[in-house]
Amino acid sequence: MKPILPEHLLELAALLKDRVGLHVRRDGHAALRIAVAARLDELADVPDAGSYLALLRSEDAGDEELRRLLPLVTVGKTSFFRDERQFRALEAILPGLVARARGGGRPVSIWSAGCATGEEPYSIAMTAAEAGAGPEHVEILATDLNPEAIAFAAHGAYEPRRVRDIPEPFLSRHFDRDGDRYHVRPGLRRFIAAIRPHNLVSSIFPRPVSGGWDVIFCRNVIIYFDTPTTQGVLTQFHNALAPGGYLFLGYSESLFRLFEGFELTEVAGAFVYRRPETSGRVGAPAAALAGPVGPARPHLVPMPAQPPAVRHVAFAPPERAHTPVPLPSSLRGGAGAEPPLAPQEYLDGAVALFADGRFGAARELLERLLEKGGEDLAVRLTLANLYGILRQPDRARESYVAALALEPLCAEAHLFYGIHLLAAGNAEEAALELSRALFLDPDLALAHYYLGRCREAERDVVRARLAYRNAIEAHRRRPDGKRQAFLGYYPDVPEDGDAFARAAEYALAAL
Ligand SMILES: C[S@@+](CC[C@H](N)C(=O)[O-])C[C@H]1O[C@@H](n2cnc3c(N)ncnc32)[C@H](O)[C@@H]1O
Repeated sequence: MKPILPEHLLELAALLKDRVGLHVRRDGHAALRIAVAARLDELADVPDAGSYLALLRSEDAGDEELRRLLPLVTVGKTSFFRDERQFRALEAILPGLVARARGGGRPVSIWSAGCATGEEPYSIAMTAAEAGAGPEHVEILATDLNPEAIAFAAHGAYEPRRVRDIPEPFLSRHFDRDGDRYHVRPGLRRFIAAIRPHNLVSSIFPRPVSGGWDVIFCRNVIIYFDTPTTQGVLTQFHNALAPGGYLFLGYSESLFRLFEGFELTEVAGAFVYRRPETSGRVGAPAAALAGPVGPARPHLVPMPAQPPAVRHVAFAPPERAHTPVPLPSSLRGGAGAEPPLAPQEYLDGAVALFADGRFGAARELLERLLEKGGEDLAVRLTLANLYGILRQPDRARESYVAALALEPLCAEAHLFYGIHLLAAGNAEEAALELSRALFLDPDLALAHYYLGRCREAERDVVRARLAYRNAIEAHRRRPDGKRQAFLGYYPDVPEDGDAFARAAEYALAAL
């Protein structure tokens, strides 16, 4: 075991805070130690945690190593029914698959890859059970790199605060309370065929008993991989899925310009990737051809010269602005007979009001949702923007801080906070947030552009020029930008990046 001293963990926590805004509390140092030990195990030429810190700080390899460390550090970030839209999509997909299994066809096969402490696979199992499937119809595999997370998932016992996202009828149907823990009932556990360690950066990918996977969940995992690793993993997912099978990624994990094998499709309001019915295997990873011998560098899929068959989905506020949206009766002044709204309906309603210029009503709607416990990144970011517009800077700041506490590694949350701070005249803090956004997504042209504006405000002409050039270069690399659907409503920030590249050119010419 290579030495890791407590002061190294303190330094590392400070480095994570500084470089990506990730706040690791003292009680998280044990997890930090496990993460560093895992990286030290893999790095034969790094003798101890002190040298590991030096590696993280090095100019050439520091960023890449930090991206490798992050998923290990963020292992705890998961929850039951995380992104409920995706579970609604699964609910919509399941009946056809369950009918196949009931009719004597192969069982429905679902892989939760990067399952962390098990909340995701048990949520999948609950969704299947509620869709009328029996354990004999469904085969769920749950895997993760981290053996401790796997052991936790297999144990299946959760504190009350961790089960609060499970709707009440599901909680009493599928869990037994024993003291201060909720235990997964044997009936639900039978849906899970196996819970075991697996490294996605390896040459061997598990397969279901027969055929390919019907559904793969791999959410909030590839976001931390570098481009070649992501492309290798996606190649393997593509080949492991049955034709027509679905891939669920995290909301900020766009495959645009990254991988061309999937179609993007909308199911029950969520965007999911799908292996086309007619597609064959795509380029086999070189390591797989060499034989199943431990972790290997995955095969590189060439970047497509043309935009791939994946449709980039942009947020579309103008249509929404004219969509009649049900509002709570208190906002309509009605008699109070309105049915309760789902969190998404509040958000849709607030976006429609926002687009109509009714900022106060939009704010009120979102505040109500938060009072009801509808904590969500898109809600926090939209509300932060509203507070900014309504000239409530303190509340705007609080809302950005709350958004970043939910998703400290969301590049866009850092970007919007940076834009807000710059508008509030705080160029120095804005530059810090924008740098964090750029660490997490170096292609974010908008962030480069606003960083240029910060540097100008700081009268640092050399760094302002550099930032504007970076904005133009980032836009050239990825002309369609990376704004995602449902990540907060910012109608004043153009999504395509063109406007920013042009603005950066003008700014450069004027400097
Ligand atoms: C942020 S959690 C996501 C958990 C869950 N999928 C969700 O979205 O709620 C990321 C998980 O990915 C796992 N992970 C990171 N790198 C991995 C790899 N190379 N292979 C398998 N799992 C990995 C981490 O251990 C961690 O549990």
